Amino acid sequence: MSDTKANKRFRSQEWFDNPNNPGMTALYVERYQNQTFTRDELQSGKPVIGIAQTGSDLSPCNKIHVYLMDRIKDGIREAGGIPMEFPVHPIQETGKRPTAALDRNLTYLGLVEVLHGYPIDGVVLTTGCDKTTPAMLMGAATVDLPAIALNGGPMLDGWWKGERSGSGMIVWESRRLLAAGEIDFDEFMSRVCSSAPSLGHCNTMGTASTMNAMAEALGMSLSGNSAIPAPYRERMGMAYLTGKRIVEMVHEDLKPSDIMTREAFENAIVVNTAIGGSTNAPPHLQAVARHIGVDLEVKDWETIGFDVPLMVNMQPAGKFLGESFFRAGGVPAVMGELAKAGRIHMDTRTATGKTTGENIAGMQSEDLMVITSYDQPLRHDAGFKVLSGNLFDSALMKTSVISEDFQQRFLSQPGNEGIFEARAVMFEGPEDYHDRINDPSLNIDDKTILFIRGVGCVGYPGSAEVVNMQPPDDMIRQGIYHLPTVGDGRQSGTSESPSILNASPESVVGGGLAHLQTGDRVRLDLNASTLMALVDADEWQARIDAWEPPQLVHQTPWQEIYRNHVGQLSNGGCLELATAYQKIRHQLPRD
Ligand code: FES
Ligand code: MG
Repeated sequence: MSDTKANKRFRSQEWFDNPNNPGMTALYVERYQNQTFTRDELQSGKPVIGIAQTGSDLSPCNKIHVYLMDRIKDGIREAGGIPMEFPVHPIQETGKRPTAALDRNLTYLGLVEVLHGYPIDGVVLTTGCDKTTPAMLMGAATVDLPAIALNGGPMLDGWWKGERSGSGMIVWESRRLLAAGEIDFDEFMSRVCSSAPSLGHCNTMGTASTMNAMAEALGMSLSGNSAIPAPYRERMGMAYLTGKRIVEMVHEDLKPSDIMTREAFENAIVVNTAIGGSTNAPPHLQAVARHIGVDLEVKDWETIGFDVPLMVNMQPAGKFLGESFFRAGGVPAVMGELAKAGRIHMDTRTATGKTTGENIAGMQSEDLMVITSYDQPLRHDAGFKVLSGNLFDSALMKTSVISEDFQQRFLSQPGNEGIFEARAVMFEGPEDYHDRINDPSLNIDDKTILFIRGVGCVGYPGSAEVVNMQPPDDMIRQGIYHLPTVGDGRQSGTSESPSILNASPESVVGGGLAHLQTGDRVRLDLNASTLMALVDADEWQARIDAWEPPQLVHQTPWQEIYRNHVGQLSNGGCLELATAYQKIRHQLPRD
């Protein structure tokens, strides 16, 4: 052990070894000793490493972490740290009503309190299911203690009758088949369940795989962490190595603010396009950036990320699933290929203790069917468009999932490429959509854009994944699977719908969508990145003047607190007051 290592006094010693306050020190040691630790151990001067446990019976996507825990602790012990596991409020994407998005900020708050208020010197952030990853990164950002992310990994590939069945994707497809009367309810259930063959998170490039790739691209995990499938032996090894590494990071005082710089976020945006990442990445990364104090605008996603090609052939933008992506080299291979084209900042520091450039040196695709080169991608200019207009200040459109059919039908009118004029049909939330979508009096045809409002952060509350609305059953039977859709909510990261989503500001706080009516003409112009309601200016103003904010009904205390403090999706959907708290580890709480 070097001198600096031996002489370093950690913040946990303010609890366990503070002769200036024997009364409190005795109390702390007395109680932590009663589980398994000895007094000598607690006063040894070794760093205490918290392990934020996101896995539980309520969080199946992260349950693998319950089994990885021994290996994480082995690594921490071997490197000379004291592991202390603690539970995290569950945020399970598909199980939590009204939406897991409501709880991202609650989990964030909980993590901040734990890291700030307990004797912890560094933390392993267990990640996996969609919101667990940003919640963990946001909390680590605010406190700024040394932190490292460990993904639980995707499930094995799902299969149905010889075809890959991917998380989420199989649901959308099976819903269409059910709506068209081609399968019954039992087959519907069996098809959907085929996509979940093992422990792990979604095996598509949905929000879970995306956000873990983002954590890795930011430099917040060991290299290669994100793509290893949950049941693979390499996942156990990664858990052990992550435990070892966090102890070194504490000795080096390598903090989130050293790693998550503006350049690191730019790397993440570029990687997001290349992997065909989720439309949930922008709000989540905006939130992490705000909590670490890095300037990131929603427009940066188009400016920095639009002209990047799609290089990963994985559902929903492509055809493969997590196992193939891992075998082709995962995120290091994608970054290696991007680096050859000069698209990666190589000098950013990472959790490995090395730079990004050192981590990905020599990395390249091991299977060009799954991860392409930069020059021969699956699609050029595959990033997000960030639209604006009189209906919202900003909204996202994921261009990598625009199908050939959709392109032909809606965006390729000769002389008018990228422009689509249509009639609006408005729904007040998902219940209204389900009640009325098959109502013939709405006159929905292929010159219709479906709108949904009241589903943003304040409105839902939490912002619902409902913008990917499917057309009426009659149209599906005729083979029209997608209509353009627009809304102030989000959509699932596994959706292959080219929707316009995350419209901010949302309707319930007076955003432009509040004033649109069924029957209005709207004009989408992808060349100018605009969506406009073609309503006479006086008429539009009259609607604005007549508008009254809707009465919000809260069901839990948290819903009310959340709604009173949450911002808009374009700004990360953060608790606005929380963004003022930064690097709070420097303020030790009172005894
Ligand atoms: Fe948890 Fe997809 S639902 S990872
Ligand atoms: Mg989701």
